[in-house]
Amino acid sequence: MAIKDIVDPPVVLDQMPDPVALLDKTIAAPEISEQLNIFPIEWKVNTPRLLDIYEASRDPGWSPNTLPWDTFDASTLTQDQRYAIAYWWSLLSVFDASGPAVFARAMIHAYEKKEEDAIRKCFFSVTRDEMNHEEVCGRAIKACTPNGPLDYEPTTTLGRLARNNVQWLYYNGARYWDGFKNAVEEYPIPILFSSFLFGEVASSTLFASMQETTTIPVFKEAFKHIARDEGRHLSICLAVLKNILPTLSEDEKMMITKQIRAGFIFLSGVLYEPPAEFWKLPDTFIPAQRMLEEEARSAGFGVLSHEQRKKNWRVAVLRMKQTLDPYGIKFPALPEIGIDGETVDFEVGKIIPIF
Ligand SMILES: [Fe+2]
Ligand SMILES: [Fe+2]
Repeated sequence: MAIKDIVDPPVVLDQMPDPVALLDKTIAAPEISEQLNIFPIEWKVNTPRLLDIYEASRDPGWSPNTLPWDTFDASTLTQDQRYAIAYWWSLLSVFDASGPAVFARAMIHAYEKKEEDAIRKCFFSVTRDEMNHEEVCGRAIKACTPNGPLDYEPTTTLGRLARNNVQWLYYNGARYWDGFKNAVEEYPIPILFSSFLFGEVASSTLFASMQETTTIPVFKEAFKHIARDEGRHLSICLAVLKNILPTLSEDEKMMITKQIRAGFIFLSGVLYEPPAEFWKLPDTFIPAQRMLEEEARSAGFGVLSHEQRKKNWRVAVLRMKQTLDPYGIKFPALPEIGIDGETVDFEVGKIIPIF
């Protein structure tokens, strides 16, 4: 193409435009009196504490790929010990692998509800953390059983029992997502946050105790960091709830009572032992799980005993109760761990709490 063939652009200015003349000619833009869709046009912070937590989370201080994986040599363990450790991480992944999608959905919900910027950002950081936790599950499982949790052939009886249990767990855990999606739309923010709080109370308790009892360095280190992340998630929930719990209606209070029972049933699957109201499992499940836990312990992987778990879960639940009591929220009866309270029904399709 020759220079003479180049066409002029549509507007050629022979001098700088006069701003006053330009302003005279402007056409009034559509009035923006409210946000037109879910994308924000403001960055308000009503709860400075939330922004502080977000600032602290910008660099979580660790990453799954820089954990000392090279210190873990699976070949020093027996085959059954490897199956047993991979089993525990697979059990955890039924909960933790839901984290990224669940919190990403909650983050979008915060945009839809036009929540303050600090809440939106906090959900973003929780989503990122949960992605890290999920990654640790995957790496730990693969370090013990390449191609695990499902795509390998167990060679021992205990390995086959582990496989069967994992399939049952995953089958049950899969029912959680649809319930969560609907519940997020349906419930007001205070209910959602009380439920998230329960999940975070549970997870911070679980990881803190696993950190204490595990002697395998890479897992001890992973538990330390995950526990710290979960503690931050707990602080986020508390900061939001501090603002909204005093404003609850009686109906909302009752919804929270019911949600605590639902959360207890769901989370007991990893914190204690899975209650039959939600968890449809065969009779072989618990005996196989107990054997696998024993095997994992023999390798230095600190799964708590049945009794320690019960005690631990009870302490966590009582922490939850202490937080809600001052706001006149009745606690549900949790006879499984010896806690008295209101008898409430359990709706399988409406479970929100998550790690
Ligand atoms: Fe998590
Ligand atoms: Fe969490």
